[in-house]
Amino acid sequence: MSTDEPIIDIGGGAARLVDHLLAEGHTDLTVLDVSRSALCQVRARVGHDAPVEWIHADITTWSPTRQYRVWHDRAVFHFLVDDAEVAHYCRISAAGVAPGGHLVIATFAPEGPTSCSGLPVRRWSAASLSDAFSGGFETVTSTTVGHHTPGGGVQPFTWVTMRRSA
Ligand SMILES: C[S@@+](CC[C@H](N)C(=O)[O-])C[C@H]1O[C@@H](n2cnc3c(N)ncnc32)[C@H](O)[C@@H]1O
Repeated sequence: MSTDEPIIDIGGGAARLVDHLLAEGHTDLTVLDVSRSALCQVRARVGHDAPVEWIHADITTWSPTRQYRVWHDRAVFHFLVDDAEVAHYCRISAAGVAPGGHLVIATFAPEGPTSCSGLPVRRWSAASLSDAFSGGFETVTSTTVGHHTPGGGVQPFTWVTMRRSA
């Protein structure tokens, strides 16, 4: 993909994905997070002039106003335990990804933790993620990856890449 195509990182937190994309020359980046302090921290790190739109919002009530070529979510979707929140997310991601664009999502796998940061989570297999997003996406790839935590633990994550139907 070319570096001027739009990418959004949902719940980017303190992750360095945006740093890497900027280093690769991407010029149309968006980071959304419910935590204002996380956004401020990353904005200070990458520089206030970086070509990034910072959106302070709760994904369970937010709706995109444009379409993205890539929608990335690592470790946010699994915090949505309510069916209505899951349905909202599936709806807004289908609306927010351009036809032919991609949704890259990583959640706790079925054998992963049952909570995170004191909050309950919903665990997903590749099949259940594909099913949940089947209204707007077709699955391209899926895998299970052991995420190594700073505390030395390993958390199984399901990673799925889906393509927005034309
Ligand atoms: C476990 S961290 C993952 C951060 C980053 N994606 C990564 O992989 O390192 C979850 C992030 O999602 C954000 N988050 C949690 N619930 C959210 C929601 N409902 N709307 C938007 N962001 C949310 C948190 O503030 C936090 O930054």
